[in-house]
Amino acid sequence: MKYDITVIGSGPGGYIAAVRCAQLGMKVAIVEKYNTLGGTCLNVGCIPSKALLDSSEHYFNAQHTFSEHGIGVGKLELDFPQMIKRKSEVVGVTTGGVEYLMKKNKIDVFTGMGSFKDKNTILVSGEKEQTIQTDKVIIATGSKPSTLPFIKIDKKRVITSTEALELQKLPKSMTIIGAGIIGCELGSVYARLGTKVTIVEYLDRIVPGMDKDIAKELMRSMKKNLKIDFQLSHKVTAVSTTTRSTTVTAENKKGESVEFKAEYCLVAVGRRPYTEGLGLEHIGVSTDERGRIPVDEHFQTAVPGVYAIGDVIKGAMLAHKAEEEGVCVAEFIAGQKPHINYRLIPGVVYTWPEGAGVGYLEEELKEMGREYKVGKFPFKASGRARASMDTEGFVKVIADKETDEILGVHMLGPRIADLIAEAVVAMEYRATAEDIGRMSHAHPTFAEAMKEAALDAWAGMPLNI
Ligand code: FAD
Ligand code: NAI
Repeated sequence: MKYDITVIGSGPGGYIAAVRCAQLGMKVAIVEKYNTLGGTCLNVGCIPSKALLDSSEHYFNAQHTFSEHGIGVGKLELDFPQMIKRKSEVVGVTTGGVEYLMKKNKIDVFTGMGSFKDKNTILVSGEKEQTIQTDKVIIATGSKPSTLPFIKIDKKRVITSTEALELQKLPKSMTIIGAGIIGCELGSVYARLGTKVTIVEYLDRIVPGMDKDIAKELMRSMKKNLKIDFQLSHKVTAVSTTTRSTTVTAENKKGESVEFKAEYCLVAVGRRPYTEGLGLEHIGVSTDERGRIPVDEHFQTAVPGVYAIGDVIKGAMLAHKAEEEGVCVAEFIAGQKPHINYRLIPGVVYTWPEGAGVGYLEEELKEMGREYKVGKFPFKASGRARASMDTEGFVKVIADKETDEILGVHMLGPRIADLIAEAVVAMEYRATAEDIGRMSHAHPTFAEAMKEAALDAWAGMPLNI
């Protein structure tokens, strides 16, 4: 049989592209090298990390905030293996959901490593060798953790996020290299459970790419509540190990060499596109200086009929970005004219308080010379936040000085990973700060902070502060 489309990789980019292609009437095959579908996101990324973030947050709250709510729990115990087991069960149910979607949409799943023989022939090397004939191909092979040239990831003591989601015994101490999204999320998980966490970061701030005020306030909160030791402006120069410990050597601002010893070293310095073994050379597709596959505005590579989406191409390495591209590429192939507004892809860090942002950063607007005004509302002035004892953080709305159009929204606070969706809707419809400030928001909710920050940005007239 000849397929209309073969998708290589079953992460959120690949499986969503496969579903949309099938919905649009194409006969689709999907190739995945692992036995479970769902890619990084479902197996070793978004879902397992959020499962552990939620579990560790319950434990932390039971230890630190329940008594203030009037709840005594007696002697609190941590069953770490059970926490990891529950995480794996959540992953199992979620990846099973993708299998169901493949069946529902009559998509044929091939298990094994996919590689190009030519642009219409994909070899699948798994338990048995198979060949797929196909009209078009979508590459959605995602990314892998990257490292520093001098670090050997032994997966025992020097680990990546993948191993950090699978530990069987709670570490006493952990040094994390990189205060990006993974460093802050997994650092939170372990610090909440009692591990002594040190985060060594090259820059003078955490979570690069997010609003500076959020980064500052989030770091203050993680230091105070979770006792995480942040070592900013430290350039890691070496990592050594014994069977039971790791030593991270870094150079501080003064040029001095300092050492951080811990049971584990988690390397969280970014991810790199994954194209190994794909046989791109057999079709004449080359990668750019960062290993990404170059594509045009229709996600087509240099070879007609071969497309690429998700972490393996340029742009933010986010599941929802990969999903949007999956839908878009399928619709382009079907002759439609879809569109992605990359400026409005939100970014979230699932710490507690959560951090999120969408649209322009203040620095970007300054660089562009665009005049803007800022409205802010702190959660400590929110009745809902006081009721739940989640008063850290704020909502910041940035609007055009002349037109009042919302240009950026940045938040730190409780459940704002969900609240940022309101900002995305507002900005997709090019709402003004006044529009949001005049819309009714249920009381009491965390969302009222968005309304208040908008009122502040519009005319400096928030109502509850
Ligand atoms: P992937 O999900 O990486 O999937 C690619 C798939 O292709 C894999 O299953 C791989 O096995 C397969 N593959 C590769 N080569 C071949 C081949 N030759 N043949 C067959 N199969 C192949 N993003 C968010 O938006 N929110 C989050 O909360 C979030 N949390 C994260 C937490 C962690 C710890 C990590 C590591 C990442 C997280 N991400 C998060 C990022 C997110 O997981 C990725 O952006 C997303 O998975 C990218 O999707 P993708 O489809 O491009 O690739
Ligand atoms: P990242 O790019 O977010 O952070 C890497 C950090 O490492 C940066 O702060 C960088 O300055 C630092 N660093 C680099 N070299 C260093 C050195 N030599 N010494 C010290 N620090 C150094 O990458 P991270 O956290 O590994 O995440 C990878 C990707 O996964 C991100 O692009 C992110 O988009 C995605 N992800 C998304 C999540 C979410 O949406 N909530 C959660 C987890 C991952």
